Amino acid sequence: MSGSEPPHPKVPTGIAGLDQMLRGGFPAGHVVLVTGLPGTGKTCFGLQFLMAGVARGETGVFLSLEEDVPQLLESARQFGWPADVAVERKTLHVIRLDPRETKQSIQRIRGEFAGELAKMKAQRIVVDSVSLLHMLSDDESGRRETLFALAGACRASGATTVFTAEADPRHPGVSRDGLSEYVADGVILLGYSTPAEGRRIDLSLRILKMRRTDHARSIQPYWIRADGIEVDAQAIDFSRGG
Ligand SMILES: Nc1ncnc2c1ncn2[C@@H]1O[C@H](COP(=O)(O)OP(=O)(O)OP(=O)(O)O)[C@@H](O)[C@H]1O
Ligand SMILES: [Mg+2]
Repeated sequence: MSGSEPPHPKVPTGIAGLDQMLRGGFPAGHVVLVTGLPGTGKTCFGLQFLMAGVARGETGVFLSLEEDVPQLLESARQFGWPADVAVERKTLHVIRLDPRETKQSIQRIRGEFAGELAKMKAQRIVVDSVSLLHMLSDDESGRRETLFALAGACRASGATTVFTAEADPRHPGVSRDGLSEYVADGVILLGYSTPAEGRRIDLSLRILKMRRTDHARSIQPYWIRADGIEVDAQAIDFSRGG
């Protein structure tokens, strides 16, 4: 016996290159924030993460504040993921919260949602997006309370969770609300840049923080392909620099 702590169990994300950056996946039970500008693949990331779980016999919950259920299932179908079948088999639960139904949505998140999650016995949860969740409250303390209640419910369920958030267009390194980072155990940033010649957009991913695990510090290119997100696993660098 070495006496050292056993490594924290890991949950494979369904994105091979990212798992390499994380030395196996997300630490189990974490709430991970995936933040990026529109079109960087946040919804795709969430679906891919859940469907990777379904493929392993796990149950997933997708809490959607942005897209309707048929739209989401259509996206999954386009990527070749059998989300419709999973919904039928109750290994995938898609919950649509309409941000316009403010009062009911807040009550549900702060109230019965924890119980609902426990009943579904989900191992993976996605909330897309917490940015829209903030539209439910018009004051800062209300927003904070709802976000903390949701993160608490997800953690209490024992599942591993992905929150997506819109990046602040003026400071694309942080979420628009500037709050989600503090609630999350991990933060992944999806960004893009236009190379000097300017004829295409390059997507790149980095891990800003991930509690209780060693992780790559390098910025890795990624692509949204016909079968989902692929992260370039070349030249992944774990050094902290300096
Ligand atoms: N089947 C597909 N094949 C290839 N690329 C796709 C496919 N479907 C979507 N994409 C790419 O993914 C992008 C959108 O991904 P997604 O909807 O996950 O982004 P998002 O970050 O959630 O955007 P938003 O902030 O608008 O919700 C599209 O703009 C397109 O470039
Ligand atoms: Mg989206």
